[in-house]
Amino acid sequence: MSLVPDEPLPPQGTLGFRVQLYGMEQWGDLFAPRQALALTTLVRLVHEVGENLADEHENGMATAVQTCLAFIVDKAVQYNSSLCRWKPLGENLVDTFGRQALPMVWDFSESNILGGASGDFGALLHWVIKMIEMTSTPIGNRGGTVEQSSATAHLLPDAAAQCFFTDPPYYDAVPYADLSDFFIVWLKRTIGNHYTDLFSTGLAPKDNECIVDEIKGKDKAYFEATMGQAMSKGRRILAPDGIGVVFLCLQVHCRMGSATSGDDRCGLDCYWFLAYRHRDGIAPACHELRRPRLIHPSRLPPSPEP
Ligand SMILES: C[S@@+](CC[C@H](N)C(=O)[O-])C[C@H]1O[C@@H](n2cnc3c(N)ncnc32)[C@H](O)[C@@H]1O
Repeated sequence: MSLVPDEPLPPQGTLGFRVQLYGMEQWGDLFAPRQALALTTLVRLVHEVGENLADEHENGMATAVQTCLAFIVDKAVQYNSSLCRWKPLGENLVDTFGRQALPMVWDFSESNILGGASGDFGALLHWVIKMIEMTSTPIGNRGGTVEQSSATAHLLPDAAAQCFFTDPPYYDAVPYADLSDFFIVWLKRTIGNHYTDLFSTGLAPKDNECIVDEIKGKDKAYFEATMGQAMSKGRRILAPDGIGVVFLCLQVHCRMGSATSGDDRCGLDCYWFLAYRHRDGIAPACHELRRPRLIHPSRLPPSPEP
């Protein structure tokens, strides 16, 4: 595998991507040489830490520490691409994602990875430590199980869950799978050796992605059929007294009603609806609380095919 990511960017015309028009063809093209040197050095150092720990400890300590360090490297990637801007008012660097897209940026600001300001490794380490502390306390030592699969092909048996909670995609709002490759190409280099199954496809899996993106031949009808199928699967894995919670931006709820709603195809009825407005000006959002309609799963009509 190359040190600097040589995986191709998605084709020109992909939702949210404009950089290919300017000669950027591979993910590594998003980084200036000095940035690429800093990032590949971090990747090498994380591997060295993992190897040293593996010599001294058992029980997955090396994998755990290397994984946490890989998250920090990915944050460093976000703050060290040639699409980082300067914010004159705050007098600071703005990371790659001013919004969930990769447009061309007519400005360039470079951080010093050890400079004690935006993009500094120590500052990023602090955030990852904070995240681990916050999320590990309520979970305690109970842990959990995570599987990667499409929401249209759940691995759980029928009526197995008391709750499913989802924040679904919204038509053509965000090209999530293509954007996640920005991070995946570096994660693969930092911890790919520990998670070969997750990185086996090379880039984020996209075949089943529920999205509207013309270049992929996925239109509104495809999106709504796939969403309907995901909701039917959610209905199947829910226990009869379980609840499904669907988080949506309020405007999208109005637009997407037919796709997520309890129509005959998905067998979920909305029994409670919470709408609220954030203080900081983010668009109003809602939680739809859904209960399985009381039909035995074997008598549900077949899921709509995307
Ligand atoms: C609104 S985002 C959720 C963001 C998430 N709550 C977070 O805070 O990062 C919708 C997510 O659904 C994912 N998605 C799209 N199609 C999917 C499918 N068929 N199965 C599972 N997830 C899918 C997208 O990749 C995206 O990550």
